[in-house]
Amino acid sequence: ILTLSVLGLAVAAATSAQARDYDNVRIGVDVPYEPMEYRTADGELTGFDIDLGNALCEEIGVSCEWVEQEWDGIIPGLMSRNYDAIMSSMTINDERRRQVLFSEPYITMPSAWFAPQSLDIDEANEETLDGMTIGVQRGTLQDNYVTDNFGSVADISRYATADDMVLDMDAQRLDIVFLDFPIGHYTLIEDNDGEYKEVGERISEPKEYFGDGFGIAFRQRDEALAERFNEALATLKENGTYDEIHARYFGD
Ligand code: ARG
Repeated sequence: ILTLSVLGLAVAAATSAQARDYDNVRIGVDVPYEPMEYRTADGELTGFDIDLGNALCEEIGVSCEWVEQEWDGIIPGLMSRNYDAIMSSMTINDERRRQVLFSEPYITMPSAWFAPQSLDIDEANEETLDGMTIGVQRGTLQDNYVTDNFGSVADISRYATADDMVLDMDAQRLDIVFLDFPIGHYTLIEDNDGEYKEVGERISEPKEYFGDGFGIAFRQRDEALAERFNEALATLKENGTYDEIHARYFGD
């Protein structure tokens, strides 16, 4: 045991000597994505990711600064050091694991279909979607899933932001949209007067598309930083802070 722990210390020292030490962590985020990241009427940045991210930074003892970035360029922005982490409802999947280092998952959400009440289908499949126009946010797992599975029967409209997609849905340019469940639920159901409905079952399989929950992404070599976030996440889950933030946005 003694030899092992001495070895462990030596390894820890070597890794921390290589990695950069952060006292300010810049976090990239694509807004709006209510209730995960959005602005209040006064323009204040808020949401589950923002509150949890701020609490994690506080626990770690670093300051954090949010940097807005459209989804499409969010991984390139991390690589170009425009920020040091991404916390933006990013689903952990194998394709992204090749490019970035993920924290442990901090929440898990299915995807879901949303459409105007007038759309006369109760399940989304190759037959019911035939000839329809489907909206997705460009570069999301929902984009990949819809492109691969319905690209040959439906038209796909890809949007830079979730907001642009909702605007086009309001303008009746889309038949149906596919996105992370809570975002559709808040934006299209709660913030509207019954104009929209959820269609069919929520989807979280296959894993190849729907991944393993939302994670914070780091540059591959920032292992020490990712570890600090993982430890802080475990602490916030233990001490009730996580539950408090969760209840703020999701009730219960
Ligand atoms: N969870 C989906 C994905 O990882 C979409 C996330 C989009 N996030 C955002 N803040 N716009 O592909």
